Formats: sequence, structure tokens, C-alpha cells
Amino acid sequence: MLRVEDTAVQTPVTFSPALLEKFADKVSRYPEGKQKGALLPILHDVQAELGWLSSAAMDKVAGYLKIEPIEVYEVATFYTMYFLKPQGKYMLEVCRTGPCCLVGAEKIMDHIEQKLGVKEGDVTPDGLFSWRGVECLAACGFGPVLQIGPEYTFYENLTPESVDRLIGDLKAKANN
Ligand code: FES
Repeated sequence: MLRVEDTAVQTPVTFSPALLEKFADKVSRYPEGKQKGALLPILHDVQAELGWLSSAAMDKVAGYLKIEPIEVYEVATFYTMYFLKPQGKYMLEVCRTGPCCLVGAEKIMDHIEQKLGVKEGDVTPDGLFSWRGVECLAACGFGPVLQIGPEYTFYENLTPESVDRLIGDLKAKANN
């Protein structure tokens, strides 16, 4: 079953000219008739612009690529990097795999939950932050680790203090 925010499902979506240019660029990299191959990068572009993938956005992508909406849903629900409900401007993704847990990843997640005052997957009232645990981020020697999309910037050797600084810096950046 498609996991989407009920209230936002039917909100009409408009893709900006800049986003449509990105779509065209992605599609141009595939042979004629194989435009469906551009689906994943196009979904990344949509998410980078809109923050998440609503049903309306996915339907519109299907129309653009001339494929069935179910083909888009299948991809978007398979890969965990696609968000099917609204997220904070900054999604803190903390590695929760074994090696990072051995050096304190769970304590870092507890600290983030306490600091932000929201459960995993929820959005802070100011709309700035969400957080979640994810599987190995391939920086196992530098745990605990988190990443922030859409650029997927890494923050390593996390401590409660460095997390506080990071959150403070992101708040300041958002308010400038
Ligand atoms: Fe955390 Fe690999 S286990 S980055």
C-alpha cells in the first residue's frame, strides 16, 4: 500500500521550468524509447525541489515519462531514499547499523530525538528538521555518522555536543 500523507495526496503539483529542464537533460541521456531509465534521477530532482514525493508529483512524473503511475510508485516505495510524506528542510539520517551502534549511534539518535522534540520520521513545528535511522552509510570507521540530503553531506565521529552545534548551525543557516 502506498504510504503517503493523506491530506497532501491530492494537492496539485507544478514543476518549475528549471525542474523541467533537468528532466529533459536526464531523458536526453537515454536512447529513444528508453526514457523510463531516467525515472530515478528525475525522482531525486523532484524530491530536491519539493522536499518529498506526493502521489500528485509521482503521477505527474509518470505523465512526463509516458509510463503508468504504478511504475513510479513501485520505484518510489522500494528505495528508502525517497520520502513519501513531507519532511523537515533538513533530514538527519543517522546510521544505525552495528559498527556505528558499537560507538554510540543509538545514544546519538536518542539525543537528536530529545534535542528536536520529535519522534523518528516526524517534523519539528518550525518545519526545519526530521530525523531517522538508516542502514550503513559506508563510513564505518568514522561512526557515529549522519548524512543530510539532498547533497548528502556527511558528519562523522558524532557526539551530543557536535550534534548540538550542527543543529544550531543549520538553524542559523535557515534563518539567514
Ligand atoms: Fe555506520 Fe557503516 S555501520 S557507516
